[in-house]
Amino acid sequence: MDASARSDNEGRGLLRFLTCGSVDDGKSTLIGRLLYDSQLIMDDTLSSLAKDSRKHGTVGEDIDLALLVDGLEAERQQGITIDVAYRFFATPNRSFIVADTPGHEQYTRNMATGASNCDLAIILADARKGILSQTRRHTYICSLLGIRHVVLAVNKIDLVDFSQETFDRIVAEWSEFASGLGFRTAVPIPVSARFGHNVTRSGEEMPWYAGPTLLAHLETVDVEAEAAEKPFRFPVQRVNRPNLDFRGFSGTVASGRIAVGDAIVVAASGRQSRISRILGPDSDQDMATAGEAVTLCLADEIDIARGDVLAPPKDRPEVGDQFAAHVLWMDDKPLLAGRQYQMRIGNLWTTASITSIRHRIDVNTLERQPARQISLNEIAVCHVSSTQRVPIDPYAENRATGAFILVDRYTNHTAGAGMVDFQLTRATNTYQEHYPIDKHARAALSNQKSLAIWFTGLSGSGKSTIAKIVEQRLHAERRHTYTLDGDNLRSGLNRDLGFTDADRVENIRRVGEVAKLFVDAGLIVLCSFISPFRAERQMVRELIGGEDFVEVFVDTPMEECMRRDPKGLYAKVGRGEIRNFTGLSSPYEPPIKPDLHLQTLGTTPEMQAEVVLRHIAMLIGEASGRDAPSR
Ligand code: ADX
Repeated sequence: MDASARSDNEGRGLLRFLTCGSVDDGKSTLIGRLLYDSQLIMDDTLSSLAKDSRKHGTVGEDIDLALLVDGLEAERQQGITIDVAYRFFATPNRSFIVADTPGHEQYTRNMATGASNCDLAIILADARKGILSQTRRHTYICSLLGIRHVVLAVNKIDLVDFSQETFDRIVAEWSEFASGLGFRTAVPIPVSARFGHNVTRSGEEMPWYAGPTLLAHLETVDVEAEAAEKPFRFPVQRVNRPNLDFRGFSGTVASGRIAVGDAIVVAASGRQSRISRILGPDSDQDMATAGEAVTLCLADEIDIARGDVLAPPKDRPEVGDQFAAHVLWMDDKPLLAGRQYQMRIGNLWTTASITSIRHRIDVNTLERQPARQISLNEIAVCHVSSTQRVPIDPYAENRATGAFILVDRYTNHTAGAGMVDFQLTRATNTYQEHYPIDKHARAALSNQKSLAIWFTGLSGSGKSTIAKIVEQRLHAERRHTYTLDGDNLRSGLNRDLGFTDADRVENIRRVGEVAKLFVDAGLIVLCSFISPFRAERQMVRELIGGEDFVEVFVDTPMEECMRRDPKGLYAKVGRGEIRNFTGLSSPYEPPIKPDLHLQTLGTTPEMQAEVVLRHIAMLIGEASGRDAPSR
């Protein structure tokens, strides 16, 4: 930015906006047009652009404005935009940062990334195609992400002969959809990005249009600096302690402002102090506002860790572990209620699961639909439960402290983006009683150590057969045991569950809870469940505690399971009578590092049971069954 632009347009402040729409709607061309017409393109950029246009351009000898913004060579080769590209430009009236986000179906993620700190969105529609389901989706996601100002740019208006009727029809359809989404301004503008009509100049072609050009609107729209007016929130990113004399907390002011001398509270612990110093990038400063990266020093030594949130004592975020939220799903693997994810909220990481999917939202009609799982690009209202209590504001009140992401624990991909609606207070009036008699005491009474032995494998792999022998042998040794298996529990506790992925997750969640109670009761509990997903087996391991949990992978090749077919189920699958059958039409994720890996081909169940018994003998004390347990 040149210095004169900065001083002239200071009054209006910076406008961050994004463009979204379908792939061919012309987003990049529009941004290119804005940059070009604003005459802020350097001469040398122009000459190399002319060269590139001849090489890759899709508009013949004209300069292809889209090439200005589609920075990456790979994108040029593919002819689509694949990442969020940020551009800066300025006019004498205002400075702009524009995020160009892709419109491809699978790139919702980038759109969410681009939109999260924008004040305004330009939603593009192709005048020839009108409002598509993508247009609705993007409009809805913008509202969900807290964008309060939108423009509908009806592009390629030249290709429909500048028809007012077409424009009015598109606007009517969109306005009806957008009217309930809480936008403060929603302005439709007919444009031709390629030729510049109504982008930066109005022309004679559309005498019927009396509104502003796109640029004029962008220059004047009032998007008040919201973040600075919100209550102060400072998620601590780093505790800075270079020596014993200095202790500071570094991070970015997420909202509001803070000055030296102000009182603060650590949201989760409730401990209070005052700001004694504020260090900016270069020197000490008296105050800091939203967006500034600073280090804060406090008058008192109080416990603060990365992820804590500092706030004013009189206006602090609620702290809780249950809340309702809108979740936008971005992963190919669907969201399943009951599965655990890593959750990042501010600078805090914890685990969380969706306890229930309340409903899915149809982005075309805004209707609520019942749903058991949420697929790529879908949006749902969910109840979320986090392991740790976290400070949280409703997203509508604070975009910085009301947003979270969910990360797949195995792939580390960002799988979902969440916006908190409100805290739920369901579990706050229950207390965990501590009983003097614990699992060790209960187990000691029967001279044993409690344990969960978890058999996983395909249907027909031999889980139950081996578990049965192990239990008989333990029983003969006077061990107290119990068996849980799929077929038994599914006729009682879990009779409401079928074999969809979502139901299997819930099946294992419940079984895990029951197994935990049995372990707590001092028993050796044998669990044999297909338990096809790594995530849930890991969840049960963590629930019960690694030292009391033995994962046994009963590894039998599919062909052998089909040959044995003890329950005649594979034959039924063959006749098309069973759907979602594990290993055939439903996935099985083999354990990567089981505690025991039994390859059953060429051995007998008795020999396999012996391997299990030898392994657990080490854990529960000598296999004689007479010795006191080691703990
Ligand atoms: S799990 O996948 O949710 O862990 P679980 O172990 O409880 O399954 O139940 C599996 C048992 O249900 C199998 O042993 C088989 O007898 C029966 N069954 C019926 N339909 C299916 C199916 N579609 N897939 C797998 N098992 C099935």
